[in-house]
Amino acid sequence: MTDLAGRVEARLIQDDPLFTPIELGEIHCANRVVMAPMTRSRASPGDLVSDLHVEYYGARADAGLIVTEGTQPSIHGKGYCRTPGLHDAAQVAAWRAVTDRVHAGGAPIVVQLMHVGRVASRHNKFAEAMTVAPSALRANVQMYTDDAGMQDCDLPAALSLAEIPGVVEEYAHAARLARGAGFDGVELHAASGYLPMQFLAANSNLRRDAYGGVAANRARFAVEVMEALCGAIGPGRVGMRICPANPFNDVLDPEPELTYGALLDAIAPLRIAYLHVIRSPIRALDAFAIARRHYSGPIVLNDGFRGDSARAAIRSRAGDAVSFARHFIGNPDLVRRLRDGLPLAGFDRHTLYTPGPRGYLDYPQLPVA
Ligand SMILES: Cc1cc2nc3c(=O)[nH]c(=O)nc-3n(C[C@H](O)[C@H](O)[C@H](O)COP(=O)(O)O)c2cc1C
Repeated sequence: MTDLAGRVEARLIQDDPLFTPIELGEIHCANRVVMAPMTRSRASPGDLVSDLHVEYYGARADAGLIVTEGTQPSIHGKGYCRTPGLHDAAQVAAWRAVTDRVHAGGAPIVVQLMHVGRVASRHNKFAEAMTVAPSALRANVQMYTDDAGMQDCDLPAALSLAEIPGVVEEYAHAARLARGAGFDGVELHAASGYLPMQFLAANSNLRRDAYGGVAANRARFAVEVMEALCGAIGPGRVGMRICPANPFNDVLDPEPELTYGALLDAIAPLRIAYLHVIRSPIRALDAFAIARRHYSGPIVLNDGFRGDSARAAIRSRAGDAVSFARHFIGNPDLVRRLRDGLPLAGFDRHTLYTPGPRGYLDYPQLPVA
């Protein structure tokens, strides 16, 4: 950045840091309010998005960037009920309607690639789908299934060394399909105890080969996936989401600084579009600081932000943009509310994951005065 460009950017950020445009790699964002990924479990049979998704994402297309709900890159990557896929032609066509509507509204949109690994129930998957993980260890969590209620997670099969490249290729294939579906890029879900994090965490990865043991080995799977995604669609269209040390979904990492240092040091040369960092629930661990220490590209911060704290985070240069999840549920016009300092509405927890438009499409916009 030239001195002049730097001074202009500094002045814009001082004016309203949330509403200063930013380039995340090759993705131009008109503002720095990112819609965070949210699973809403409304896909139709065939793991297809529908008119509901077109309406939902379209109503939020004044965001600087939309990150979709977690989307499986293969039938094996699915774990929860009614999550959408991005691995066949029908899914590509269905997503195209979403990306067209969002682009017409002005926002770029990336798809979050979520392979849940061992956080899965066969009740939620196609019969021929496998449940795989770094090691054959069951996640000690239960999940909801439409046909059998709450179920223990499946016992996964440990991926063999020979099988790992195939899983990496599933991600790359989904990334290529994403571009065909009109997405501006993809985000690797490497948080929340799903497959990449199962490799990163010590309790779910007991491997003794090149993918287990020391931090650089535990990071290897996520690094290889990132390299494959960058190779498939270009690094300027690839983001990665992490939440160091979050024990959610039964993963434990006693040395998160080492683990995420190794991961971020390894992906730094790729020069990806952005790193999406969720604040760690472990208070003693500053995930945002770890990210800044090990990664010099654009950072999107997440977790618990409101307008004032988001502006302060950008002004302090802790991050370059801020994502909002829950506030986007009940406030389809969240961007306008943040810009104009308008009150924020809540949302109904009971309809977060239920099929159909209730609790999805019926949150009103504030009337324009
Ligand atoms: C209903 C719901 C579904 C979520 N689904 C995902 C998901 O698919 N992928 C993901 O990375 N995070 C997911 N999250 C986490 C959010 O993206 C975000 O990290 C979290 O809600 C904290 O941000 P907030 O304080 O702005 O809500 C989900 C959160 C909620 C509330």
